[in-house]
Amino acid sequence: MEKFIIKGGSTLRGEVNISAAKNAVLPIIAATILCGDKCIIKNCPMLLDVYVITDVLKSLGAKININKINREIAIDTSGIIDSEVSSDLVRKMRGSFLIMGPMISRFGKFKTSFPGGCNIGTRPIDLHLKGFKALGAEVKLNHGYVEVSTTKLIGSKIYLDFPSVGATENIMMSAVLAEGETIIENAAEEPEIGDLAEFLNQMGAKITGIGTDTLKIVGVKNLNGISYEPIYDRIEAGTFMIAAGITKSKIKINGINKEHIRPVVAKLTEMGIGFEFKGQELLIDGRNDLKPIDIKTMPYPGFPTDMQSQMMSLLSCVCGTSVITETIFENRFMHVIELKRMGANIKIDGRSAVIEGINKLNGAEVKATDLRAGAALILAALEADGETEIYDIHHIDRGYVEIENKLQDIGVKIQRVKC
Ligand code: UD1
Repeated sequence: MEKFIIKGGSTLRGEVNISAAKNAVLPIIAATILCGDKCIIKNCPMLLDVYVITDVLKSLGAKININKINREIAIDTSGIIDSEVSSDLVRKMRGSFLIMGPMISRFGKFKTSFPGGCNIGTRPIDLHLKGFKALGAEVKLNHGYVEVSTTKLIGSKIYLDFPSVGATENIMMSAVLAEGETIIENAAEEPEIGDLAEFLNQMGAKITGIGTDTLKIVGVKNLNGISYEPIYDRIEAGTFMIAAGITKSKIKINGINKEHIRPVVAKLTEMGIGFEFKGQELLIDGRNDLKPIDIKTMPYPGFPTDMQSQMMSLLSCVCGTSVITETIFENRFMHVIELKRMGANIKIDGRSAVIEGINKLNGAEVKATDLRAGAALILAALEADGETEIYDIHHIDRGYVEIENKLQDIGVKIQRVKC
């Protein structure tokens, strides 16, 4: 077990490079199953979640070569034979369920246990299953296992009752090799879905409507292996933006798609943070006095739920009252109790948190309860008086590449120690 020890109060300076998006890379790695050929993922973020999904593919028979120095992963899925995956691997990470679509598409059947992942809500898979059934598959749920089988997938029109990111991706991947045309209505529009569609199209798929809520997929006979570099991680970029805001610093962030991060920039601008974009670079200035704001998490292009906890750390130190309403996950306020240990004044009222900003947080012993909650605690620690010790940092390692090195490079006093 490891923990972070962070000494608060530093002013940040210099620049930070953003890695490729975890949430883009996971479905792309799952999609390599579809071609049964060799694919190369360039500038791949070396993260725990990436190792879990590559372990899933390996356990099925794929050959995987991870080059950590070049940040490149070569995946050869031609040898995949197994139609069942160990439940331990799938329970470790919800993203593993993204192999279901590609597996039934290529092999006609797959069995796995119900997925795990961050403990932020019930996280059902009904919309994924609705999509598979609409494409003609039979779905059986038995003793915690999901078994999907079909002799042939046939294109269909599917309306998603909620624009689920994972369901949109899984259905899209199961439809690319189906016979005929599939239309996904009320599809999620997150940039990572666009990136997966772009990856599939470069492999030979025919997907249109990318970036809209209606995706049209015309089935093709087969797909080819390719080399691909995924998009930058908008959530990592947003986390560093808040690092600048919470420490009243000016830093440079390299590797930003301005369009993808628009909702976060809009809210931070409303608070008084300064932005200067130049291509994929950003100079962010958090030195102004900041104003409280209200935020509601929404599907893209709304404010991302994955930035909610980090925003709460910032608002905890901005004088005045702010309200954050979480509409995506019902249990995503676990960081509140930890922030309160650091002196934050936050009250939860149903799906909303009312934050009365205070002048200064105090360093404390806290626990990362999930990935983004962990990021929120790091941010709070940057502002806090004295030292903060953050436990259970394996959650943070799931989604932030070498976060302590990136923070040290911009002047943060942070150490990773065994505990
Ligand atoms: C993805 C992201 C996660 C992000 C989330 C929302 C990945 C690997 N993870 O998770 O970081 O927080 O999008 O932006 O990309 N739902 C159903 N039925 C379903 C599926 C989902 O009711 O079949 C509900 C969920 O309970 C939740 C909401 O839809 O309330 C959003 O979930 P979803 O968009 O599916 O999130 P994930 O794909 O799991």
